[in-house]
Amino acid sequence: MSAAIHELTSYDEASLDSIFADLEAEVTAQTSALSSTDAVEAFRLEWLGRKQGRLGQLSALWLKSAPLEAKKTLGVRFNKLKALIEERLEAAQSGSGTSVTVAGLDITLPGTAQRVGVEHPLVRTMAEIVQVFQRMGYSVGIGPEVETDFYNFEALNFPPNHPARDTQDTLVVAEQDGKPLRERLLMRTHTSPVQIRSMLEQDPPLRLVIPGKVHRNDAADATHSPVFHQVEGLCVGDDITFSDLKGTLDHAMKAFFGSAVKTRFFPSFFPFTEPSADVQISCIFCGGKGCRKCKHSGWIELLGCGMVDPAVFASVNQRRIELGREPVYDTSRISGFAFGMGVDRIAMMKYGISDIGLLYSGDMRFLEQFA
Ligand code: PHE
Repeated sequence: MSAAIHELTSYDEASLDSIFADLEAEVTAQTSALSSTDAVEAFRLEWLGRKQGRLGQLSALWLKSAPLEAKKTLGVRFNKLKALIEERLEAAQSGSGTSVTVAGLDITLPGTAQRVGVEHPLVRTMAEIVQVFQRMGYSVGIGPEVETDFYNFEALNFPPNHPARDTQDTLVVAEQDGKPLRERLLMRTHTSPVQIRSMLEQDPPLRLVIPGKVHRNDAADATHSPVFHQVEGLCVGDDITFSDLKGTLDHAMKAFFGSAVKTRFFPSFFPFTEPSADVQISCIFCGGKGCRKCKHSGWIELLGCGMVDPAVFASVNQRRIELGREPVYDTSRISGFAFGMGVDRIAMMKYGISDIGLLYSGDMRFLEQFA
């Protein structure tokens, strides 16, 4: 024990101030170093113990010999010191400011917080697009990200060495030179191969959306990533026309972006659709007046689409025959449309994300904003 129990020699305010300030400093110093329940209890006994407690001993001794006029001020000071001791003791016991060990276990350590996860903005956007089509009676299909040349290109009317393949360069699996081209594996460049897989498995009519990840040999910049996401759509049945395609996409864009959105269609080219179109929507930022986001045109390009090319149905029928299934995609009766859209761009527009790389960075500071 550092402080001896000694008699007071002077009762003037200045000496009392200094003596009590020393005592308070001692209490504070001791309580900031309490590291176990035993230490907390030892502190309590040292100061407040019924027989040996310093507070009791000091007040008995000093009050007894104090002149009458000093008793009151001494009493006030002792009460203040006691309040400090009790306050520090309570804090130590409840664990604030110090740890309390029980049977070797520090029960004052903060627990491990279970952080609730949220959907990644891409996953959420993809699910929302899919939902719009599910409400129109579409089912959901998925397919592999590692595809054969046949499904990714050949069956979709990209013949070997056709220049249309150059627009969709990708990673190919090594050491496959011994295999026929159509069996060689590559990372799919679009979700369209799942159109073929679905028509091989299912007879018409069919209506489905296909969300998924795709890969291209694109240099990464603010708007390009070698990995990105698409939602594909396919609708095949009797007498499906281009007006069905227009009506479906116009409705879907209004359902997704709001009923004020307009759509317009431009001629385009895809090997697996004929005719093909690019679809623009009126700018969701300026309502079509023209702003920086739409490069002052009032329109934003969002989708590729078209009527399923008869060559695609022919590939499907051919493959069905090879697989011993009936070639039911009879083009004198059956027609259909397909469309595809980039999920990343839509998510970026929707959430105001300026760099596509953020979607793939795994940076918690970015991701937490979607919680
Ligand atoms: N697969 C095309 C692409 O990735 C998009 C598309 C899908 C176009 C379906 C028309 C029909 O560029």
